[in-house]
Amino acid sequence: MENFAFYNPVKILFGKGQIANIGAEIPSDAKILITYGGGSIKSNGVYEQVKAALAGRNFLEFGGIEANPHLETLLKAVDLIRAEGIDFLLAVGGGSVVDGTKFIAAAVPFDGDPWDICAKQAPVKAAIPFGAVLTLPATGSEMNTASVVTKWETQEKLFFASPLVFPKFSVLDPETTYSLPIRQVSNGIVDAYVHVMEQYLTYPANAPLQDRMAESILKTLIEEGPKVLADLHNYEARANVMWCATMALNGLIGVGVPQDWATHMIGHELTALHGIDHAQTLAIVLPNTLTVRRDRKRLKLLQYADRVWGLVDGTEDSRIDQAIAKTREFFESVGVPTHLSDYGVGLDVIPKIIDRFEKRGFVALGENQDVTPKVVEKILVLCA
Ligand code: NZQ
Ligand code: ZN
Repeated sequence: MENFAFYNPVKILFGKGQIANIGAEIPSDAKILITYGGGSIKSNGVYEQVKAALAGRNFLEFGGIEANPHLETLLKAVDLIRAEGIDFLLAVGGGSVVDGTKFIAAAVPFDGDPWDICAKQAPVKAAIPFGAVLTLPATGSEMNTASVVTKWETQEKLFFASPLVFPKFSVLDPETTYSLPIRQVSNGIVDAYVHVMEQYLTYPANAPLQDRMAESILKTLIEEGPKVLADLHNYEARANVMWCATMALNGLIGVGVPQDWATHMIGHELTALHGIDHAQTLAIVLPNTLTVRRDRKRLKLLQYADRVWGLVDGTEDSRIDQAIAKTREFFESVGVPTHLSDYGVGLDVIPKIIDRFEKRGFVALGENQDVTPKVVEKILVLCA
């Protein structure tokens, strides 16, 4: 196992009715800004619950944060916060609202052009404290330090991470997810699954506990995801998927082990250039990352085939083939198509992505730093 430091201070309030308890988590004299997205919270009752929990408190609202939050929108919130002297943020929504709020939190005290936080990885030295009410289990943003922001003007989708943007608390009430469109339920299952794969499906690092935790999350998603889709008001299945998504990317399973993330880096470009949902990009790319890099990932692919899919018969190569095929089938079975053509995108996207990676110096991705633009091209060709 590699050396590691692990720190995660996020207080999780999990379960039905927990929104009612947020008042106690926010300083009583705080001037609060509630941030939210395109309006789902106003039609599913979440907004009313938040307002009731903050009755008598000093708060303003900022809505309109897009899916794949736009820098341009987030900067308007930064102006509002500076003008109003806001000192606590409450993100209410999916990963985009939480990510956008992290960026806002870091941008308010930032000296200079806030886009540098993502584009130049400029160090974040301060951030406004914030909490989250999560309504879409997928990203893990509710319990991690990462944020992904899109600069609309240039169609660039870039991330930053800082321990200063850990939420102070996150509410995970599975009932808030009942109103999700099926497409977002499907996306959430796939995003969480691929987060585990990015941290698990690399090479052995003598970390059997992390491996087994990762495999547990994958198997739980395989069991519980379809239950949610079969019965959208199945509270227990919703709760299990929600906790899987948080555990998939709160840092725990990634300690002391190599991590890949090439699939995510390629996926972000497909979202930036073609607006394909984040999880959809992962469903397209991951099976082909596994195919192209099967030699470097061989031992873990065999372990995954055995422990997650129960594939123990046949040659090693056929077990690997089947495990990759099972992965693709799982994504398709929960409703996420796995080919670029399913989204009306052609292979002419490849040179654009390669050009962007070369310009940004993304030339050595993956757990072995051997995912060069040539390898990215091979992966994308298979995505057709
Ligand atoms: O905007 P509203 O009206 O709220 O609607 C949203 C949005 O249209 C809707 N929605 C959310 N909760 C709902 C709901 N509709 C009905 N009922 C509810 N309870 O769902 C749509 C998608 O929401 P979004 O927040 O964009 O989805 P998701 O949570 O999948 O977040 C995706 C973003 O997170 C980033 C992605 O790149 C993408 O920008 N990621 C963040 C990560 C992180 N911070 O660690 C890691 C991930 O790999 C990912 O990159
Ligand atoms: Zn993701």
